[in-house]
Amino acid sequence: MTDEISAAIAPRVFSGVQPTGNLHLGNYLGAILRFVEMQKTHDCIYCVVDLHAITQPVSVWGGPKELARNIHEVTAAFLAAGIDPVKHVVFNQSRVHQHAELAWVFNCIARLGWMNRMTQFKEKAGKDRENASLGLYAYPSLMAADILLYRATHVPVGEDQKQHLELTRDIAQKFNNDFAESIAEHGFGDAFFPMTEPLIQGPATRVMSLRDGTKKMSKSDPSDLSRINLTDDRDTVAQKLRKAKTDPEPLPSEVEGLAGRPEAENLVGIYAALSGRTAADVLAEFGGGQFSGFKSALTDLAVDKLGPVGSEMKRLVADPGHIDTVLREGAERASAIAAPVMNAVKDIVGFLR
Ligand code: TRP
Repeated sequence: MTDEISAAIAPRVFSGVQPTGNLHLGNYLGAILRFVEMQKTHDCIYCVVDLHAITQPVSVWGGPKELARNIHEVTAAFLAAGIDPVKHVVFNQSRVHQHAELAWVFNCIARLGWMNRMTQFKEKAGKDRENASLGLYAYPSLMAADILLYRATHVPVGEDQKQHLELTRDIAQKFNNDFAESIAEHGFGDAFFPMTEPLIQGPATRVMSLRDGTKKMSKSDPSDLSRINLTDDRDTVAQKLRKAKTDPEPLPSEVEGLAGRPEAENLVGIYAALSGRTAADVLAEFGGGQFSGFKSALTDLAVDKLGPVGSEMKRLVADPGHIDTVLREGAERASAIAAPVMNAVKDIVGFLR
């Protein structure tokens, strides 16, 4: 019955990006570039999490046409950045029904007390909590299902997702405990789900708003000047960096001099991440100079690195036939992994199938 999958858990990476519009430099440096990097060492599954996108009000995710367009756009960003959909798996979440199915089982494993501690729910629900969707509340349980449906061992995510990864481990642990006997009976030893490790990005690649160095660069910031979108053209990038907030001092020559200067730290961090150099190295070159010169060097670098990604994304989105094929085939391959895991979960829980 359960010989469809092996009891042993192989290393596997899973991560997801929501198709909610405006992919920016923060998504690129903080997530997508790391996804690209992980391909060298792991089997990777990268998912456009469209079920998560609709947890917020329709006015936020933009409605049916926007959603379809944004699914294409995130996929295009994956491909343009260098994610290989043949060696690895790229698909959209709603095509693999087991995500929703496993999420239901997890809704019955997770405790209200655990969910009530989720800080992202509190932030997203805001003051009018009564009006938040039930889906937004269950969001972390669906995210746990995304990860554990593939029994993924590693998840590259930003700092803001750390709590959701902890919850994923709590859910895995409770499932393993609650069904310990059944798990053993079905030949899975003493644990069916792995304790997934988060691979949290360091603060060095945490990209902050260009208008306020203490806030994360975000697609929901009302000011477009706060972020560099992957599809911005040269003039727009130049203008946004020119207007980026700074302080009146010249750049310091050493990293210690960035303390208490969040905007300077952010711009230097962006330069370092885009050039693959350390902040110390960047300051050795630009320290003592004015921001204006540094900003124009940063503009050249950003356009040089992001320009090809942005134009490839535009090319792919303009002719979505290729993207649709990638997603459809990706979903088939994802299903081939997910279906036996979901079947095993059904057997373990005692559902008849
Ligand atoms: N919650 C994640 C974010 O907003 C997106 C996400 C959904 C995800 N499912 C996931 C990330 C599974 C990693 C693994 O960034």
